Amino acid sequence: MFMTEIISKKKSGLPLEEKEIQFFVNGFTEGVIPDYQVSALLMAIYLNGMTDNETVFLTMSIMRSGKVLNLSELPGIKVDKHSTGGVGDKVSLILGPLVASCGCSIPMISGRGLGHTGGTLDKLESIPGFTTTLSTSEFITNVKMNGFSVMGQTDEIAPADKKLYALRDVTSTVASIPLIVASILSKKFASGADAFVFDVKVGTGAFMKEMEQALSLGRMLVKVSSLMGKNSVAYITDMNAPLGVSVGNALEVEESIECLRGSCSEDLWTITSSLAAEMLILAGKARSKTEAMEITHASLTSGRAIETLRKVIDSQQGNSSVVGDNSLLPRAKYQMDVLSAESGYVEKVDALKIALSAKRMGAGREKMSDTIRKGVGVKIFMKPGEKVRKGDRIATVYGDESKIVSIEVDHVREAFSFCPDPLPARQLIYFRITENLEERFQ
Ligand code: URA
Repeated sequence: MFMTEIISKKKSGLPLEEKEIQFFVNGFTEGVIPDYQVSALLMAIYLNGMTDNETVFLTMSIMRSGKVLNLSELPGIKVDKHSTGGVGDKVSLILGPLVASCGCSIPMISGRGLGHTGGTLDKLESIPGFTTTLSTSEFITNVKMNGFSVMGQTDEIAPADKKLYALRDVTSTVASIPLIVASILSKKFASGADAFVFDVKVGTGAFMKEMEQALSLGRMLVKVSSLMGKNSVAYITDMNAPLGVSVGNALEVEESIECLRGSCSEDLWTITSSLAAEMLILAGKARSKTEAMEITHASLTSGRAIETLRKVIDSQQGNSSVVGDNSLLPRAKYQMDVLSAESGYVEKVDALKIALSAKRMGAGREKMSDTIRKGVGVKIFMKPGEKVRKGDRIATVYGDESKIVSIEVDHVREAFSFCPDPLPARQLIYFRITENLEERFQ
């Protein structure tokens, strides 16, 4: 087989066969096919797309470039959740313990934050002592014991994806739906779960800025999962404003703990409870969304959900006393309130602007080798639709350098825009996509 022929075929818009896709993924992973040929092929894929079958073959080849975890010793249907990344998106931190406390197994292999969005691993590692570096057997033992464990992606999981992503990043081929789908699913499927909930974020703070792109991604994630024998549901959810109150690692852990204690902002709870309900249904623990909501609500109010988080933290060597004492979490040295310069109704809180502010203070990374500051970030007190008067506190900025904090106070203020009249309620969930049904919410 010749790489030039494979490139030429894709350049002409013809679908590739399974063996051709396997050939290029294996050859590239082993270092026998050079970057320049794979770059050309990636660009041809970017321009001409891939059929569903080609995307399945690509997902399978990337997945098989490394280890596929065998979770058969865990009982029942293993469910996992993936978010395409948002600002203040701490849903996994809440949903993991919550769904686990309802009797499900959630083996979650997660990533670190890069660019303007945070990562579940960084957030959890802001808990003193918490480690996400686990062996496969420790990971499985933890899921068996607590129903939920989070571990970082190792070099053994889908190594081809790491190499391909690095090449896509420098050849302007990241934003291709089939390449994104194969990248996400290869890693998720390698983690061994049976069923998945996808939260595809759309808006200023999301990877997908436009609804059409988000819909294509959601549809293809579900389609390819189904073709690979995995049950899944995709939600398209709003990411024009940050989710919940906090943006920043330790601040988000604090908010997640509050939420598991029963005090949660409406937007965060709407998304978390909906995705949690879908996971319970996928795992066969509930027959309807109403029943699933009742089960999760009971777990929350009985204290089982927060108790599960405590056990998860203990099992991953973290200081679980943070559950009852948030002063044990890392704190930024300085904090300064942001006061509204206007009266009216909040029209927008630009998620990207808030995220960039938090990132400049050290909450996020530009490149993977950057270190993050755990305690810094922003808390948002006024959400779209809320009425404010000039001088009201709309946010608080947390940082380790006082000069930067005062600069960021102005940037955070600029993220807010106002209007004189009340607005219709903010829409949080736009679409729910399953193999057989696409529901649009108004
Ligand atoms: N997230 C991934 O894991 N892969 C992509 O290609 C894009 C987002």
